[in-house]
Amino acid sequence: MDQSKIWKGNWTFVLAAAGAAVGLGNIWKFPYLAGESGGGAFVIVYLLCILLLGLPIMIAEIYIGRYGRKSPINSVKRIINDFNLNKLWLILGWLGALAGLLILSYYSVIAGIAASYIFSSIPASELNPAEYSVEHYSNFKSSPLTMIFWHSLFIGVTCYVVGKGVVDGIGRAINILMPILFFLVIVLCIYSSVTGEFIKTFTFLFNPDFSKITPEVVITAMGQAFFTLSIGMGSIMAYGAYMPQEQMIGKTVLIVIFLDTLVALLAGFTIFPIVFSNPELSVFVGKGLLFESLPVAFHSMPLGAIFHSIFFILVSIAALSSSVSLIEPFTAWIEEEKIFSRLKGVIILGLIAWFIGLGTVFSDNIWANYEISGLNFFEWTTVLTDQFMLPLGGLLICLLVGFFIPRVELEKDLNLTGNISKVFSVCLKIVAPLSVLLIFGYALS
Ligand code: PHE
Repeated sequence: MDQSKIWKGNWTFVLAAAGAAVGLGNIWKFPYLAGESGGGAFVIVYLLCILLLGLPIMIAEIYIGRYGRKSPINSVKRIINDFNLNKLWLILGWLGALAGLLILSYYSVIAGIAASYIFSSIPASELNPAEYSVEHYSNFKSSPLTMIFWHSLFIGVTCYVVGKGVVDGIGRAINILMPILFFLVIVLCIYSSVTGEFIKTFTFLFNPDFSKITPEVVITAMGQAFFTLSIGMGSIMAYGAYMPQEQMIGKTVLIVIFLDTLVALLAGFTIFPIVFSNPELSVFVGKGLLFESLPVAFHSMPLGAIFHSIFFILVSIAALSSSVSLIEPFTAWIEEEKIFSRLKGVIILGLIAWFIGLGTVFSDNIWANYEISGLNFFEWTTVLTDQFMLPLGGLLICLLVGFFIPRVELEKDLNLTGNISKVFSVCLKIVAPLSVLLIFGYALS
């Protein structure tokens, strides 16, 4: 690989990986899934998955990327060639490229809603802000054209940034904007915990009712762990290719996982106190939770309208730093193989994702009544990607690195010694794959 593409210093990788990981998954999806899936029961399984699956898989995924120093598909190819493995392992690369497109299709619709919210704070004179907020979201959803407009805008910007090259465009923006987002989430969290129902939120999130742990809750929590960490599909692998050789993968992954989990929990402590103190709002509303609850908090804050807009600007940016990483693996491959130029490649991929995204748009309005096995188009896309494709990708990553890369290679590259090396090996060969398989089995039972 061209050495100039390798990032300088350790922080660029940390910020880029945190940028990919922290996004709508933390601020929008984690709270709504926790709300729908019984709070504490979901949170505990989620945290266990982050630790038992997220940690080893993220390390292994970065390892593959840094070893191959190419797009995920070609990095896997290099491993196949160097270690004389079966060509079927390439499925790992292709599965990820496809998952990226599918996730982007709905991610962009939701990010589009977030972007539109920059301009729609609740009027200061409104006497019943919670009711207003629920109605506003419902009106928004019922207009396919408005949704398509914002969806198109978001995917357009994503393609533009990726077309320009990830390092220069988004790399610089993330360095400045991510810290601001963290700061604002903390301020908001304190504000709503103080003014809203903090104790109720704490009990809801951390006092698990174990009888609520059902196969569905477990598979949802596992899917969310993969989704939020951006693992199992090549995003982190693609960034691994740009990681300096001397950077410690283990330590870096710990930082990224810590930041990601922190933002998800802070988002929970921002949203639920508001929901619990407004009877018009409900935790069971699904994907509208963020859009219905937060504007209510801003409405009651001094300078709320300004904070409202700043917050949704930052959420849109966090979403952009993730959406870019969704489409990057496939684009990088197209560029490497010289099939099209980077820009042409990303435009074609963007159009495909845009088109599939129309299904998510219509799930809220003209296709609202079309369901297969109780799930609409949007829900099928999320279930297929989060709960099937990403964990399957994760499983393949564990098996590939755990069983087919010689232990000495891994110890050298990952700086592992003694017991830590043994624990890592057991996690990769046994704990993580077995957990994924057991959860798959449990969900199907
Ligand atoms: N982790 C991102 C988020 O939480 C979404 C994402 C998933 C990005 C998979 C890349 C790959 O918003």
